[in-house]
Amino acid sequence: MEKTKKRNGFASGIGFILAAAGSAVGLGNLWSFPYKTSANGGAAFVFVYILSSAIIGSIVMLAEIYLGKRAQANPVTAYKKANKGLGWLGLFAIIIPLLITCYYSILGGYTIKYTMNSFNANSQILASFSGNVGEVILYTAIFIILALVVVMAGVKGGIEKASKVLMPALFILLVGVVIYCLTLGAGVKDGLAYYLKPDFSQLGFKGILAAMSQAFFSLSLGMGIMVSYGSYAGKNIKIGQSVFMICLFDTIVALLAGLAIFPAIYHYKAISGVDLKVNGIMLLFSSLPVVFDNLGTIGHIVSFFFFGMVAIAALTSVISLMEVVTQFVIQKFRVHRTKAIFVVAAICFAISIPISISLGFAINGQDKMTICGQNWLDFIDMVTNTVLMPVCAFGSCIAIGWFIDKKATANPLKTFKTLEEDGLSLGKFGKIFAVMVKYVTPALILVVEIFGVKDIIFPGNVFSKNGLGIVITAYALLALAAIVYFVWLVKRETGCNADEIDIAIAANLDESDEDEVAEEPTEN
Ligand code: PHE
Repeated sequence: MEKTKKRNGFASGIGFILAAAGSAVGLGNLWSFPYKTSANGGAAFVFVYILSSAIIGSIVMLAEIYLGKRAQANPVTAYKKANKGLGWLGLFAIIIPLLITCYYSILGGYTIKYTMNSFNANSQILASFSGNVGEVILYTAIFIILALVVVMAGVKGGIEKASKVLMPALFILLVGVVIYCLTLGAGVKDGLAYYLKPDFSQLGFKGILAAMSQAFFSLSLGMGIMVSYGSYAGKNIKIGQSVFMICLFDTIVALLAGLAIFPAIYHYKAISGVDLKVNGIMLLFSSLPVVFDNLGTIGHIVSFFFFGMVAIAALTSVISLMEVVTQFVIQKFRVHRTKAIFVVAAICFAISIPISISLGFAINGQDKMTICGQNWLDFIDMVTNTVLMPVCAFGSCIAIGWFIDKKATANPLKTFKTLEEDGLSLGKFGKIFAVMVKYVTPALILVVEIFGVKDIIFPGNVFSKNGLGIVITAYALLALAAIVYFVWLVKRETGCNADEIDIAIAANLDESDEDEVAEEPTEN
């Protein structure tokens, strides 16, 4: 008999795509992609990046969205439903976003500060602002509160609505800034050449690895986000098409960002003779402000729009990071969304404080408050993005490629059939997907993991004790997640999306949530 069950989640396919794209488009696109491109052989790097997004990124994204969609539940339950022994990956996919939120929000706070301060010589403030911990904490708090407000309003009423406004706004601002930068005149051509001139000799194996790991980060993979968003996707959402759109949008935004940044930097070089730094934190918070300040009032206006756009990009990413953790807290601990998001936000805020202090020291050249020789931000970034994220992405492929089918056949054609019976219909692409998700993509991810770890332990081919410390910390975290899971969670209920509605109703808070849920027939 068919009964109608209330489902909380995205109301429309476009809402889902924009929310997932909102997660994907972030500092990774607007900031690290451009400078990594210029450092690794321009168009050659872009070529490998696009290929990585297509053959690794899109496959992992499909696997993760599908894991969530079939379970209609948080990552722990979702991986557990693929196989009981894999649930720890889900727990792990909740710890990583929690850690990332803590440092990403600080950078988000910086972008708000720079937006507000656009008319007041941003080029002068990096040292003083980053060293003024009270102010940094204040802006971090503002940023976290903005994300909290959205997550608190729920998936449909908060995340979907916000994404539908913010993502088009971001795109319009970006295109506007690109047009302005491309018409600056002197130096623009040199900037474009520096950004995009293909130089395969500069790319090398290192560049290829950098492109692959950049694709993971940029597409928000290997950290539960797409599992969680996928769990809010209804039957009406076409996974294959959605993944294509999300990857396309993410790549276009990344490419456009470089079209704004390098012409601007080279324009400044052409008129002043000064070569600004285009690497790391200096690019966004020191070099670009110099260019904007130099362009007078128009530059200040462009700066306002530019940093506003970066802030929006960072915000929609942090919203997704906080949602994963919040979803789990709601479903596992059976608490109302409001309570859950406050707890999550408070934890992230508390951890962000020492990180911002350590970052302030690093920016001001002081060698204080480091872990394994790194400031806290870089330390957490290496632990999560270089070591842990590929492990989780690998697990997502394995879960789909080998565990949905209980017989774990080695034949991808059989896997293809099992996946189709399970509900994943990808048409002609299905067979290719089965081969990729079973063999090719996990193998490539393994390469990224091994060489990423090697690079941390042997930077420049010399053994580093600090690097070893970073890697050990990361794997210890992994082991901890596994232990907690097997001791505490494996035999217990870990909740699903429908619980959230029950919880809201039980708490008598259902009026506001009533319109948050879409009616969906379930086959039982
Ligand atoms: N994808 C985001 C970016 O490109 C970062 C991010 C990573 C967001 C992981 C959420 C999860 O900046």
